[in-house]
Amino acid sequence: MTELPDSERTFVTIDLAALPRDFLWGTATSAYQIEGAVAEDGRSPSIWDTFSHTPGKTDSGDHGDTACDHYHRWREDIGLMRRLGVNAYRLSIAWPRVVPGGDGPVNAKGLAFYDELVDGLLAAGITPSVTLYHWDLPQTLQDRGGWPERATAELFASYAAVVADRLGDRVVHWTTLNEPSCSAWIGHLEGKMAPGLTDLTAAVRASYHLLLGHGLATQAIRAAAPDAKVGIVNNLSTVFPATDRPEDLAAARRHDGHVNRWWLDPVHGRGFPADMREVYGVELPERAGDLETIAAPLDWLGLNYYFPAHVADDPAGPAPHARSVRRPDVPRTGMDWEIDASGIETLLLRLTDEYGARKIHVTENGSAFSDVVRPDGSVDDPERQDYLVGHLAACASAARKGAPLAGYFAWSLLDNFEWAYGYDKRFGLVHVDYRTQARTIKGSGHRYAEIVRAHREGSRKAA
Ligand code: FCB
Repeated sequence: MTELPDSERTFVTIDLAALPRDFLWGTATSAYQIEGAVAEDGRSPSIWDTFSHTPGKTDSGDHGDTACDHYHRWREDIGLMRRLGVNAYRLSIAWPRVVPGGDGPVNAKGLAFYDELVDGLLAAGITPSVTLYHWDLPQTLQDRGGWPERATAELFASYAAVVADRLGDRVVHWTTLNEPSCSAWIGHLEGKMAPGLTDLTAAVRASYHLLLGHGLATQAIRAAAPDAKVGIVNNLSTVFPATDRPEDLAAARRHDGHVNRWWLDPVHGRGFPADMREVYGVELPERAGDLETIAAPLDWLGLNYYFPAHVADDPAGPAPHARSVRRPDVPRTGMDWEIDASGIETLLLRLTDEYGARKIHVTENGSAFSDVVRPDGSVDDPERQDYLVGHLAACASAARKGAPLAGYFAWSLLDNFEWAYGYDKRFGLVHVDYRTQARTIKGSGHRYAEIVRAHREGSRKAA
């Protein structure tokens, strides 16, 4: 649980001098959200193909069949990154492209796509940061039980070995999982993301096997690529009780356990939080040695931050019996997410002080707003610019206070398929016209480019 934010604090000046000279300035995307080409070159369906093609699951029935057509336009997209002046790019690899059966034969064409992409990035002076799992489980593995089954964790490690073996001579930064809490809780408990289950036992088992898969994949990556720097990416939230009633204080503690501690504690050798085991009341599928595997020391931690949580007790609701409360009169993004830049500073310092992080990358941070394309084709997005500058200033403030922040990846390079929200929610620094696939750098993209340039040129501050 975290202290109430000081509402007087505003973050408008970025203390660039607090960030290391070799800071990674990047943008982030994920495979299913941008690639399209879902049936090309041997890719098999993922749980997101199934989910998005199930009526009623996504807004307007949107799906990733074509998305940003990045599979064919990746050279142009690297060109956009060069224009932004970034020196890093966080991408994810689609397991169903590389090992379409989930296990078994490797698809040479799928692997070749990422091989070429990595070479293209390196030739452009852009450091790739590769995520192995950004939610697109091969459907064939879901048919065999998915993450609630231990075999999925083991197969994930085999797939990780294949990718690390091929790319490990050029890729240094590896992420095992993106936001496992979303996979487990939103996918298996709330049913709002693939595979769309609402089953607490399945969700808790999935959470366990996701973290086990993380540990096994960490070993596999290191065995294949001894120079690899391995991390995990969690989406964390600052958590506040809606009132100071004891019930709401307890609910805030449970929500913090659900979204933060359940994911951080095991990876840091503290096991699964006892209070949350009791809240869930589901037996963990533990075997001797698993906790050690999960707790393999990491090279860095990834933080995705979007919004704070204000929660109230909800005894009749699903675990963890804490309900988010919508506060009136606070600024919000187009996702209806509350804007609070101080949260990213708080979380960076929490990872540093409470979990002893030695290196942190902000692997995602960004905002959706309904952008207006002007008659001349340009897109001005002052709200996204404010969000970006405010959060970067808060990051630099955390670095000034000792957080070992080594990189920031803006979500997202491109407008893309925003999962159950479809294409209506635009997070890109670059606008995508889905009719023509034309890309246009937005005002926020130009602003980001200026900030990156200012840091490179040694300016001490940016605003
Ligand atoms: C994160 C996801 C990312 C994107 C952003 C808005 O939870 O990792 O794919 O959808 O939210």
